[in-house]
Formats: sequence, C-alpha cells, structure tokens
Amino acid sequence: MGKSKELVLVLVLAALVSGSASAASESRRVIESEGDVYRRNLLANGLGNTPPMGWNSWNHFNCIIDEKIIRETADAVVSTGLAKLGYEYINIDDCWAEISRDDKGNLVPKKSTFPSGIKALADYVHSKGLKLGIYSDAGYFTCSKKMPGSLGHEEHDAKTFASWGIDYLKYDNCNNGGSKPTVRYPVMTRALMNAGRPIFFSLCEWGDLHPALWGAKLGNSWRTTNDIADTWDSMVSRADMNEVYADYAKPGGWNDPDMLEVGNGGMTKNEYIVHFSIWAISKAPLLIGCDVRNMTKETMEIIGNKEVIDVNQDPLGVQAKKVRMEGDIEIWAGPLSDYKTAVLLLNRGSSSRYPITALWEDIGIPPKTVVEARDLWEHKTLITQFVGNITATVDPHASKMYVLTPVA
Ligand code: GAL
Repeated sequence: MGKSKELVLVLVLAALVSGSASAASESRRVIESEGDVYRRNLLANGLGNTPPMGWNSWNHFNCIIDEKIIRETADAVVSTGLAKLGYEYINIDDCWAEISRDDKGNLVPKKSTFPSGIKALADYVHSKGLKLGIYSDAGYFTCSKKMPGSLGHEEHDAKTFASWGIDYLKYDNCNNGGSKPTVRYPVMTRALMNAGRPIFFSLCEWGDLHPALWGAKLGNSWRTTNDIADTWDSMVSRADMNEVYADYAKPGGWNDPDMLEVGNGGMTKNEYIVHFSIWAISKAPLLIGCDVRNMTKETMEIIGNKEVIDVNQDPLGVQAKKVRMEGDIEIWAGPLSDYKTAVLLLNRGSSSRYPITALWEDIGIPPKTVVEARDLWEHKTLITQFVGNITATVDPHASKMYVLTPVA
C-alpha cells in the first residue's frame, strides 16, 4: 500500500472511531485532492526519477555530425565503462535532418550524413543497451536554421519519433514567430503523451520565461540558462542562474543549467572538477559534451567518478543550494537519503587558497550530530569525525566535496 493510501486509511479509521463518518469522507477528499494535484504537476511519462545521464553531440561537434559519430559514441560509452556508471542516453542535437520535409510531411534524416536513417541508429543504440535521443524545435526552423522545427507538426513528429524508437526529445525555442513557450511547449507534451512510447521531454527555452515555475507539468527537465561555453566564467554563471530555482527540482522534473563541457579543453582539471561537482550536487542532467571516443584518462576520472554520480542520482532528488557566500568563498549543500548531506566547499577566487568552514547550522545538520566525512574526489573517509563544522583548505578555482554521514 502506498504511503498516501496508508495515511488516508489512518485518517478514515480515526474519524470512524471518533464517530464521524462525514469527517472521514472529508479527510479522504482532502488527501485525494492533494494526490491529484501532485499527479497533475508531474509529467505522466514516469521518466526522470533521477536526473538523466548520457551524452549530447552539440558542445563538441555542433552541426558537424553524422551517424558514424553517433554509433562510435555509443560504442565508446559502453567500452569505457560510462554505460555501467549510468550514462544511457545518446542524444543527437541540431542538424540531423534535411531542410525540407518529404511530400507526406515527414522529417527526413539528412541523406549525406544519416544515410541509414534514424530507426537503424536507434536499433543499433538499443542493441548496446543504450537509448537514443533526438532534437527538434518549438518553432518553424531549428536554431541552426539547417532543418525544420516541429511547430504545427507536433503530432506528426512525435509519432515519427516514437516509430523510430526515440527515447528522449530535446525541444529548442528558435524561430517561433514570437509566441510564448507556455503556448507552444504543451502541444508537444500532449503529442508525446499520445505517441505510444515513453519519451523523456527536455524543454530548452533557455530560462526565458522561468520554466522552473511551469516546466514540471510539461517536461522532465527545463533549461534555466542560455548556452554554456567552455570557460570558467560561463560555467559558474550557469550554476548561479540555475541555483535560484533549486526548490522547483524534484523526481520527475529537473532544472537544467546546460550540458557538460568537461573534456573539451577550455578549463583546468580543477575547474572541470568544480563543474562536475556543482552539476552533480545541483541534480542537473549529466549530459557529457566531449568526444568520448578520444577522451583523456583525466576526463574519464572526472565524468566517471561514481561517488559524485551517486550524489546526483540519490533517490531523494533534492537540489543543493548555496547556504553561505563570503567574498570568493561559497558553501553549497543539500540533503541526501538516509540522513546524509552533500557539501561542496568552493573557492571562486583566482589567486588565493582559503580555509573554508561549513557550519552544521548552515547545512541543515542538528548541532550535536557527529558525522563521518567522505571526500568524494580523494575517495577517502577522513579519520577524524566531525561535530558542528568541517573545514578544508581549498585552492583557487577549486572545490572540496564531501558526503557527511551521521555516526550512530
Ligand atoms: C541552442 C541550444 C543548444 C543547441 C543549439 C542548436 O538554442 O540552447 O543547446 O541545441 O541551439 O542549434
């Protein structure tokens, strides 16, 4: 029996015992309508219980993509061990289709780059135990203007995607004729619901109309920012913009500060560790954006850090917040299941090392609680146990990340 049903039963029994059948039906009505509200506020495709993990072509390849890259990427995601760590979606971004639909109104995979078609690619990706994602736009053309968008063709395209075996749709916002995303996106939501296949729906309107406020009814994730670039400033500013909406993330619907740049070469190792740590603790989609066929050992160490991935995939699904900011120093924290807490000590400055202290009162741990601290990048449980606070010295443009577990 589900928890809410148990609660209804308890309330109904309590009301009956106290002799009031009408109070019982009143209690039931209240609880059931809360349940209805909850259901109505989540997209009913059952996907995204934890943030999605996978790869997307855009950050590294832009428009220069073809079916060979997609197939080889699927191979590499399996052979490197990334698939075992939970990376499952192989997502094709913009530029996969011909500029014109066929005479039946179908989107047509670009003959020169995707000659075997998308269905064959989906079959291949599925045969490796992975899932295939695709991209379209809630406008007349996609952002590259190199292929059509789905505005006015939502039902048709959703059916096409389902018939190809697509598992994830990223839906962009360019060339939309000036109407609001809150008008255009629901049409694709409904179309996907009717398409006969569960398809993760990723809203990409760049945070323009505060999609955190309405996205959970329409999709499984929503971009909160415009595009990331492979630089420290771009990365931390996306993290900041996304953090504001922390309260809106929950299982089934996630804030999306854009895809990962780890491995694309524009940041230092420590900066990429900060990038991956913030995305993980923020319950952001972990969509790799580098060429996984040719990545370095260092890149694999970062995106393959299972302990950090576990924070991202924790079933509680609560996005961390900045709980203290002082000059260059920031502390991010969020609860995990089993009374654990994830903490990130971040030095945003570019020159000095600082000791950074997280106080229990800031990070939501009862004052006298003794905890064990696991350093997620050193892969070590610290010998000392902590009560009241934890301190570490952090290099410029670097961070320390811990999971704190109460000691019984
Ligand atoms: C942007 C989107 C990017 C990428 C690009 C493709 O609007 O934010 O992530 O999809 O379009 O043209």
